[in-house]
Amino acid sequence: MQLSLLENASPRMNAENRAEELRILLEHHNKRYYQLDDPEISDAEYDALFRELQQLEEHYPELVSSDSPTRRVGSTSLDKFSSVTHRLPMLSLENATNAGEIRDFDLRIKKYLGLLPEEPISYVCEPKMDGLAVELVYTDGVLTVASTRGDGVTGEDVTGNIRTIRSLPLRLTGNGIPRLLEVRGEVFLSLEAFQQINRDKEENGEAPFVNPRNAAAGSLRQLDPRITARRPLSVYCYAPGSTDGADFSSQQDFFSAIADWGLPVNSLVRPAVGIEAAVAFYDEMQQQRESLPYEIDGTVIKVDSIAIQRELGEKSRSPRWAVACKFPPRQAVTVVEDILHSVGRTGVITPVALLKPVEISGVTVARATLHNWDEIALKDIRIGDTVVVERAGDVIPAVVKVLTEKRCGEEKPSLPPELCPQCGSAVVRIADEVAVRCMGLACPPQFRESIMHFASRGAMDIEGLGEKFIEQLLSLGLVSSVADLYYLSRDDLMKFERMGDKLASNLLAAIENSKQRDLGRFIFALGIRHVGERTAKSLAQAFGSLDNLERATFEELVSIRDIGATVAQSIRTFFDTKGNIAVIRRMLEAGVTPAVEMKKVGGRFTGKSFVFTGALSRFTRDEARILVENEGGTAVGSVSKKTDYVVAGEEAGSKLAKARELGVTVLSEDEFLELVGPME
Ligand code: IVH
Repeated sequence: MQLSLLENASPRMNAENRAEELRILLEHHNKRYYQLDDPEISDAEYDALFRELQQLEEHYPELVSSDSPTRRVGSTSLDKFSSVTHRLPMLSLENATNAGEIRDFDLRIKKYLGLLPEEPISYVCEPKMDGLAVELVYTDGVLTVASTRGDGVTGEDVTGNIRTIRSLPLRLTGNGIPRLLEVRGEVFLSLEAFQQINRDKEENGEAPFVNPRNAAAGSLRQLDPRITARRPLSVYCYAPGSTDGADFSSQQDFFSAIADWGLPVNSLVRPAVGIEAAVAFYDEMQQQRESLPYEIDGTVIKVDSIAIQRELGEKSRSPRWAVACKFPPRQAVTVVEDILHSVGRTGVITPVALLKPVEISGVTVARATLHNWDEIALKDIRIGDTVVVERAGDVIPAVVKVLTEKRCGEEKPSLPPELCPQCGSAVVRIADEVAVRCMGLACPPQFRESIMHFASRGAMDIEGLGEKFIEQLLSLGLVSSVADLYYLSRDDLMKFERMGDKLASNLLAAIENSKQRDLGRFIFALGIRHVGERTAKSLAQAFGSLDNLERATFEELVSIRDIGATVAQSIRTFFDTKGNIAVIRRMLEAGVTPAVEMKKVGGRFTGKSFVFTGALSRFTRDEARILVENEGGTAVGSVSKKTDYVVAGEEAGSKLAKARELGVTVLSEDEFLELVGPME
């Protein structure tokens, strides 16, 4: 898609057209990214378009529309959800738990329709997503209401939370969009997102979610959409509700129409002619279950033809034309042989059950997480107990319950440690937290993890600096902060076991090379709580330099896309900690230069920073940014004393005022173009 330069119109008109253009562009790129998995632009370019729209809407609040991508996250917390009555009740499905019951379903249908047992029926097979059913209402193509299933008749209005799902269009695109389209689908969390949420919870001393479904439910039922926005929920649509202006002849036809309009559909959906093909799909999915990036708890088989569906009709709570084929739960019974205390990167001490190894759906399980001591007490888990363990989306399985009837009286309870099992520091339990933490700053697991993270591929990418060498650096006492890595000598490295000249040279070269990593990676490498790779990149883009980031206020931080209060607070706390600043300084002194990518050395704007504000009519914000970056400068979002130029378009507001107040040079659009000079 091309961006157009709009000329010869009033700034207000330009702004209106540009805002509309940006919304369509952003929706288009969302579809490329989330649905087609084939993005046309980089994240940074997407962010720049997004920010441009945000700034336009700031200047012209009357331009904001409810389907604007900037409105995905509302800012007000609800007291409670209001209720929504579904136009058509949301039914549930009858279950089958094995191939025999699936074949019975097929025979039941044939009997009802008066077909012979050998006449094949055309089905559609789908994975049964293990999440929560929702109904989405699109009126004239715009998402207006989203509700939970509730009791099937009445659910809760969770529109604000559903809007935060980035893969879901706020406005449908394409041809033949119906006046009314209700679609049902399943909201779920990917395993990766679930594990990240639990890691964060653990770091914050909160009780983790037991499985992705509960995490998705907890996230969807948040009264504050800002919290939901930080939980990357997904949705797959699977059934029509009430419609007006849409006529689907089959389930396949429904899927292809809604996918064309931009709605997310599971790519594993497959037609099956005859029940044996549907049974094969069930077996196949059970095999694939372990390698899917989300949890499924079975498959769903539906009669493809809508006409035949109508003929079959429904019973009181479920349709006759579909069946849920459930997988057996991934559970096993085993014995807790011991309970260990494991110290994590942030000092949280987690009890871990050592189990008598047992196989659960093809995987041998020898450990289970017990989460925390509250959980142990609640379930009364003791060493020697016979327990039910379940694999439920987590890397490590969990103990579901104790089989108390199997106790012999010899079982021993496990208490939290008073001293850290790793470093001997005192252990504390922070008020309101369920976690027990080691507060020792130099506690080896915490420090080891932070170096591993620093050197890892997405961070400073120090090739060859793996677990083995880090272990030796620590035991030889050669590093007490990550900055020390940049002061290691060849002699230091030669003290390592099995170290040769060549290896030492390679390692020193890798450390030296890492000094040139860009700012995004450097920020990520610092290991600031809640700052992942993507957030680090956004921060680098938005602030342009480490100095700017260090000085950024809480308000400036929360104004960045995807950065909420917790993340902003965590960044401030990190930079307000003296020890951290000292470590950073020492790295910079050693020659680490975390710069923003794409800088042209020796360009006319090298070292200069620009802020663009107001409605620009001669060029777009993207184009301006590229012009600046091509000449080695940076375009940043907020005005400070360090800003060199503010380029103000029509109706520039607070940023212009701030520039004047700080004595920053203000340029008109024409003056800026003069400064850029003739293009090469
Ligand atoms: S069809 C009348 N398709 O399973 C059609 N349901 O046990 C009703 N589910 O409440 C649902 N994946 O929450 C359908 N591909 C899929 C599904 C699916 C998950 C859930 C849904 C439903 C429950 C029924």
